[in-house]
Amino acid sequence: MMCSLWRGSLLTLTSSLNRRVFQCCRQLGRSYNIASCMPEAVAFQGVSDHSGLYKFSVNESDRFWGAVARQRLSWISPFHTVQNCDFSQGKIKWFEGGKLNVSVNCLDRHVQTCPERVALIWERDEPGTEVKITYRQLLELTCRLGNLLKRQGVRRGDCVTIYMPPCPLAVASMLACARIGAAHNVVFAGFSSEALADRIRDAQSSTVITVNQGVRGGKVVDLKRTVDQAVQNCPSVQQVLVAMRTENTVAMTDRDVPLEEEMMKEDVVCEPVAMDSEDVLFLLYTSGSTGKPKGLVHTQAGYLLYTSLTHRYVFNYHDGDVFGCVADIGWITGHSYIVYGPLCNGGTTVLFESTPVYPNPGRYWEMVERLGINQFYGAPTAIRLLLKYGDEWVQNYNRSSLKTLGSVGEPINTEAWEWYHRVVGDGRCPVVDTWWQTETGGICIAPRPSDPEAEIVPGMAMRPFYGIKPALLDTEVVTGDALCISQAWPGMARTIHNHHQRFTETYFHPYPGFFFTGDGAHRSKEGYYQIVGRLDDVINVSGHRLGTAELEDVVIYLMVEEDVLAQQLREMVSRSIAKYACPDFIQVVRCLPKTRSGKIMRRVLRKVVERNTDELGDLSTLDDPDSVHEVISGHRRLC
Ligand code: PRX
Repeated sequence: MMCSLWRGSLLTLTSSLNRRVFQCCRQLGRSYNIASCMPEAVAFQGVSDHSGLYKFSVNESDRFWGAVARQRLSWISPFHTVQNCDFSQGKIKWFEGGKLNVSVNCLDRHVQTCPERVALIWERDEPGTEVKITYRQLLELTCRLGNLLKRQGVRRGDCVTIYMPPCPLAVASMLACARIGAAHNVVFAGFSSEALADRIRDAQSSTVITVNQGVRGGKVVDLKRTVDQAVQNCPSVQQVLVAMRTENTVAMTDRDVPLEEEMMKEDVVCEPVAMDSEDVLFLLYTSGSTGKPKGLVHTQAGYLLYTSLTHRYVFNYHDGDVFGCVADIGWITGHSYIVYGPLCNGGTTVLFESTPVYPNPGRYWEMVERLGINQFYGAPTAIRLLLKYGDEWVQNYNRSSLKTLGSVGEPINTEAWEWYHRVVGDGRCPVVDTWWQTETGGICIAPRPSDPEAEIVPGMAMRPFYGIKPALLDTEVVTGDALCISQAWPGMARTIHNHHQRFTETYFHPYPGFFFTGDGAHRSKEGYYQIVGRLDDVINVSGHRLGTAELEDVVIYLMVEEDVLAQQLREMVSRSIAKYACPDFIQVVRCLPKTRSGKIMRRVLRKVVERNTDELGDLSTLDDPDSVHEVISGHRRLC
């Protein structure tokens, strides 16, 4: 029975009301006007261009967000207060008094207008085996799962841990939690059992949802076994719901529940719970430089509104487009731009299970051709990797469906940006370098391709999104470098689970009156922003501050080719930046310590250099533990 649900076929997409409204706005807006930069902005009378709308969004924040929230979300009861925020206490509240259900906004309302539209394209590990799930089917899966969770004793306010690779049942699990008022805690299915146990314990979950095995890059991974190990040290866990991703049976204990079998016994209707705007939607753990990972808390209405608006305007997403974000659902990128933003907008969104090089380095672009992807959203680390394999892997495939190329997660160096633009996008697709964080909930700085006038400078995140007011404040060494945000926006995190004090100390105390991002940035004379990386990764040489990204931009290609002598590297740095920036020591390693999402853990490198290897901090997100040992022993030899 399950199979029939999974075997959804792509039916002709119905043209929805939205598309007609948009076309209508475009026809009316002969000269570029507010209707084409933001169709719902008819409420903002008197504002007649894109930059005017930005100004309105920050100066008249209540009016702006109030109107957008009324127009974009379906409310069970209306809110009475748009915002109630006080940075000095870390108090962030949006749309108080309002009640809504996130799963209704992501599913039911689209099922009413276009039930057979494809919601999810599950791009499974083997190319050509994708599975399409319509909005009607996704609602059905979600309701059955919601009913099953209730039967298993999950109640409003509980937190369910989800340890699954990207797949429709993972999305349905997230939405099922939202439907019945439980919070979810998705843990990246590449994390170790200890990292998983840490997160389950902190979230106090009684229920974990997982799959028997994962499949990635042609390899089978025993995810259920990792969960078994983790829950041994998690007394809160009472049940583990196990979905079958492969046909291999795994040992089941009394605690384990066969997910498909049990959900099929459930009704396809599950009454959505009316949630307060500020009830918790999910926790998502992100590693801190010291101490335990932080469980950032996002709530219902503001988060949903912000992801929906940014998805629509940053990527210029239109009805009928296929949105391909290749992140994992275990990261905030997956939450906001695979699940909540696209589904709130009634979009078709891809769930990518594989790797950029499986079965070969043409995988992304073969997928773009086969699925007709219109917006592609990926990470610089993958772009840099693919660039090394040459242009042919890209040019073998038809990429004419592409309209926007997105980048996220770290600064995109100039070569990678140019290659992405020139080769992948054939020089005709805007590249949107999007800056944001788990804490910000959604994209805060991006070029905004929906503004046809907007210039895009390679490697720059460019402009703040609607409602985002950045400020560059003085740091200890250099003036005007610390990227802060000076007023609240609906998508921002509300607290750290069980550690509100840590939340206020980390984000609001360093610069009173501002949200401190921890990143450094420059602003050009045109007002464009360039992110230079984490401030705690900045190197101070002779009183000059150097962003690590800047140095890496120069040496990165030579490092990967591994045939470069220290002298050549020094010459390059000297030529491209300055003589004073030349490193005294150069240590060549097989690979740098990176997180599973591809970020270099520079704080770990710093501790090694400072010889503080007893204080490496949280290593639970480390991809390859050997890399740290190698760096430590290599450094000892060098010094
Ligand atoms: O340092 C910035 C970097 O990634 C950090 C946030 O990481 P995380 O919470 O894991 O979220 C990643 C996905 C949003 C930021 O503080 N970062 C993210 N995007 C960019 C970036 N650095 C430079 N340019 C970007 N576009």
